[in-house]
Amino acid sequence: MSRKSKPKSRIHKLAVDSIKRIDYLCDQKFKTMTNRTFTMIKPDATEKGHTGGILQMINKAGYRIVAMKMTHLSKEKAGEFYAVHKERPFYQELVDFMSRGPITAAILEKENAVEDFRKLIGATNPANAEEGTIRKIYAASVGENAIHGSDSDENAAIEGAFFFSKLEQF
Ligand code: CMP
Repeated sequence: MSRKSKPKSRIHKLAVDSIKRIDYLCDQKFKTMTNRTFTMIKPDATEKGHTGGILQMINKAGYRIVAMKMTHLSKEKAGEFYAVHKERPFYQELVDFMSRGPITAAILEKENAVEDFRKLIGATNPANAEEGTIRKIYAASVGENAIHGSDSDENAAIEGAFFFSKLEQF
């Protein structure tokens, strides 16, 4: 082995260690992402003064709020957020309702965030929601159902990014 090969192998080791470190950090970031969900407290719940009660239930269920804002969606923004439902007969009703008044948007963190949150909020139609769920307690109908919860990790990331920049997520 030549004398020149020693520094070369040290650099190689440093490079390998750096790549391992980057891989580790990416894995950690990914794990964090999959432990997050997105929610909106909808205009009906805001109008009735249920925001505090709903946030208390979310906190009691063990979620950490990593981003939160109160805002009022324009029809255009509500339509964009729910674009996936564009072909559904209730789309216009949904857009009108979601732009009717202020909402509270938040990103929440906990193990198994998406699935557990869907259980916490209950069925889309409050008539079918289990006792003790947020929609059973606070929602009036399938259209005005108090709260939104993402249905997958992928949608949680997309919906969270719709409202919050990276700098606004803690
Ligand atoms: P959410 O789960 O937040 O996202 C889609 C929304 O569409 C859903 O809550 C309901 O508020 C609404 N929605 C679903 N089905 C109907 C329906 N049949 N009529 C009116 N609104 C509906």
